[in-house]
Amino acid sequence: MKGVILAGGLGKRLGVLTRITNKHLLPIYDRPMIYYPLKTLVEAGISEILLVTGGNNAGDFLRLLGNGEEFGLKHLNYTYQRGEGGIAEALSLTEHFAAGDQITVMLGDNIVEQSIKRYVDHFVQQDKGAKILLKAVEDPWRFGVAELNGPHIVGIEEKPKTPKSSYIVTGIYMYDSQVFDIIRTLKPSGRGEMEITDVNNAYIRQRQMTYDTLEGWWTDAGLPETLYRAATLVRTRTMQQGGVSVPEPLWCER
Ligand code: G1P
Repeated sequence: MKGVILAGGLGKRLGVLTRITNKHLLPIYDRPMIYYPLKTLVEAGISEILLVTGGNNAGDFLRLLGNGEEFGLKHLNYTYQRGEGGIAEALSLTEHFAAGDQITVMLGDNIVEQSIKRYVDHFVQQDKGAKILLKAVEDPWRFGVAELNGPHIVGIEEKPKTPKSSYIVTGIYMYDSQVFDIIRTLKPSGRGEMEITDVNNAYIRQRQMTYDTLEGWWTDAGLPETLYRAATLVRTRTMQQGGVSVPEPLWCER
């Protein structure tokens, strides 16, 4: 199993916050955003990881993360996405890296509370196809929304006006090597992007898509409000674990 983190895009929904830097370098409490998905993949037991980024600040990721030593990695792979062709286009750039292996893909602005190892392990047992992780949310219209029939997923609608359920597709996807053939068949959507939802619907049509429901909290961080929420959730978790990374005198001297 290999890991892919997608950290390109222009982050337009964050307005001036992303005028001079990449969204995934913005802080979530005491770490840059990119630290969280990277830690999530490493904690799931994945050590071969490729980071896809783009825009004007791609070099900053290398300066920040190096070879991933801080995460216990020996080496970190990087690739560059030109323009804003969408999540599926970014994923197409990882075919050489996947080299026929299963991949776990994580969007760089998705933050989870708990380990995803158990879901990755389930997928490793799965002979072929894909797996997505669902989460019930209060604002499903902002996401890809799953239509469910018991244990089966019937379809996914991207940002529907009237969602068919409250279960949204989080930005954590597991694929076999067919994913690259599927991407080659896609056409750009109305917003001019290659949609990951089209990839997932292709697996659903082939009856090769499974899902698990994600335990613990989950959030994206691509809007001012969700960036703030992510920081609050991470801060609360850090406090619960008894750790703050600020040196003590800073707290005491007030
Ligand atoms: C993307 C996907 C969407 C998914 C979401 C999760 O949306 O297109 O299906 O639910 O990530 O974060 P975007 O953030 O690109 O609008």
